[in-house]
Amino acid sequence: MQQEGRVFPPDRKTSSGAHIKSLAQYRKLYRESIENPDKFWGKVANTELVWMKPWKKVLTFKAPHAKWFAGGHLNVSANCLDKHLATGTANKAALIWEGEPAGLGAVGEERVLTYRQLHREVCLFANVLKKHGIVKGDRVIIYLPMIPEAAIAMLACTRIGAIHSVVFGGFSAQSVADRIFDCQAKMVITSDGGFRRGAIVPLKKSVDESLVLVDSTGKLLAQTINKVVVVRRTANPVHFEPGRDVWWHEEMNTVSPECPPVKMESESPLFILYTSGSTGKPKGILHSTAGYLLGATMTSKYVFDLRETDVYWCTADIGWVTGHSYVVYGPLANGATSLMYEGAPNFPEPDRFWRIIAKYGVSIFYTAPTAIRAFMKWGNEWPKKHDLSSLRLLGSVGEPINPEAWMWYHEVIGGKRCPIVDTWWQTETGSIMITPLPGATPTKPGSATLPFFGIVPEVVDDHGKPVPKNAGGKLVIRKPWPSMLRGIWGDTKRFKETYWTEVKGSYFTGDGCRQDKDGYFWIVGRIDDVLNVAGHRIGTAEVESALVSHPSVAEAAVVGRPDALKGQALVVFVTLKMGVIAHPGLRDELRKHVAKEIGPVAKPDDIRFAEALPKTRSGKIMRRLLKQVACGGEIKGDTTTLEDLSVLEKLGSSEG
Ligand code: PRX
Repeated sequence: MQQEGRVFPPDRKTSSGAHIKSLAQYRKLYRESIENPDKFWGKVANTELVWMKPWKKVLTFKAPHAKWFAGGHLNVSANCLDKHLATGTANKAALIWEGEPAGLGAVGEERVLTYRQLHREVCLFANVLKKHGIVKGDRVIIYLPMIPEAAIAMLACTRIGAIHSVVFGGFSAQSVADRIFDCQAKMVITSDGGFRRGAIVPLKKSVDESLVLVDSTGKLLAQTINKVVVVRRTANPVHFEPGRDVWWHEEMNTVSPECPPVKMESESPLFILYTSGSTGKPKGILHSTAGYLLGATMTSKYVFDLRETDVYWCTADIGWVTGHSYVVYGPLANGATSLMYEGAPNFPEPDRFWRIIAKYGVSIFYTAPTAIRAFMKWGNEWPKKHDLSSLRLLGSVGEPINPEAWMWYHEVIGGKRCPIVDTWWQTETGSIMITPLPGATPTKPGSATLPFFGIVPEVVDDHGKPVPKNAGGKLVIRKPWPSMLRGIWGDTKRFKETYWTEVKGSYFTGDGCRQDKDGYFWIVGRIDDVLNVAGHRIGTAEVESALVSHPSVAEAAVVGRPDALKGQALVVFVTLKMGVIAHPGLRDELRKHVAKEIGPVAKPDDIRFAEALPKTRSGKIMRRLLKQVACGGEIKGDTTTLEDLSVLEKLGSSEG
């Protein structure tokens, strides 16, 4: 089991100004939210959202189908923009954007859009969509770099009731085509390129390729696409297909800035976001209008404890759910200033993020453990060069954060004064589910702590029965919540099978978890990443956490290899900190270290040193590939999302 270690109580300064000021207040509100969910959700739906027609019924639930706020009408873009125009927020920065090429200069490529300006851009682009035949319910693919047009396009879709599906800019032409086909999209919005680590990512070229790809019967996958809108970002020359391709900036000059928001029903589909599952085919996770917006709005307000003067920065790409909920919808619905940065954290040097924080006075910073571990590897001298005193709150998301990374984040970035919110959630959940509330929840490094209001998580065994405290099990959510997924686009059967049959009547998260004696949740990782070694359940994340707590290790990934004696053997891939050289004694040292941290049962059978680990562009380690390498097999399957393919070749050839 993971060490519980220290407890960090909320500091008085944070508590005094916070929305929720104490653990007792959290517990009281939490109890009310689950004892009388209709009353709780009904009240917050009215206080947090602006309705065009009041809803009639809070919830109708017949597992797995939920209907929230039936009878109500609202519009997401009106909640994120129009609502602020009659207030002092109108002329506040909604988006602060920095392009990657700005480099080291004090004044680089920057854009600031106030709420009023963003509203105007969104209305204009909504009219461009309409001009090209996009109507309520149509699907639109957004394949853009991290530029303001990405947020504008998303909001413009919501304004007219079109369903957007953002495809991460690091995905291949094939992925774009597959997604177009799956949701039968009518339009693609892309750009002539985006900047990443000094190079240009040729997005338009990928779109051109995707539009001619065919399936096994020779049929075009992207048959439904008749328009491609192209943002000029890099001035990189691109092919232009007459009649099909149009420039964003030219189109914006042909339409009116008047575009009333369309009345959408609470349950109208809002967006589709594809995510990987246990099979090779990505699932189109479907979110709905009112419930999703309520989840994103409320969690942004309470988890980040947003205040009027904050400059809030979530480093996620809009291609992921974190970018949807916590770069665009949640912060804007709260009238916050959301910062967007186009490029890599180490361009032109490994201090780019710290430079940005100092430059704009960022007060809330939300990033992923994988990034934190990279920063640790790059060394403390980079953050030390900058004034990070504007920070008051730090966040973590996407994977379990190992206590060593948590402590580094706390001390080196947060100067020991910023609370850390380790937020657990998923593409499917739409918004944060398990999280500390700053000012209220004592934190324990490595634990996402306690459930958000209205959320009822439980750790259960294979029969769906709650397990005793401290025992490992499956994480399920017992009650419906507003921002829950409404389905997998076009595949109700898969929706039911994936999430609702494992534990009857409950939502199955796919994660392994345990709850400690204080009721704190410790996410172990995906169930499919949990290994069974000699009858003992061992979380790969747990072993990884132990390894990275060794002073020589920068990053580690653990996979299982079939073993005649123990069922599965533990194979470990390790990257070392800069300046550390692998030596024969180190393997033994690491084995002993893991045995010390977790127990002899978790001792790795095989340790391989690697220069880097294969990761998706979003920073997730591709364990499926590592498993193949560990088993000595050929690398099969889709590698199109890999950050750096050469990593794989090196791993394949490294000695065991
Ligand atoms: O395993 C959990 C892990 O990320 C999964 C969800 O991934 P995705 O849908 O890509 O969404 C990522 C951003 C919300 C979860 O099933 N995960 C996410 N946050 C945490 C986490 N694991 C541990 N701690 C977290 N804070």
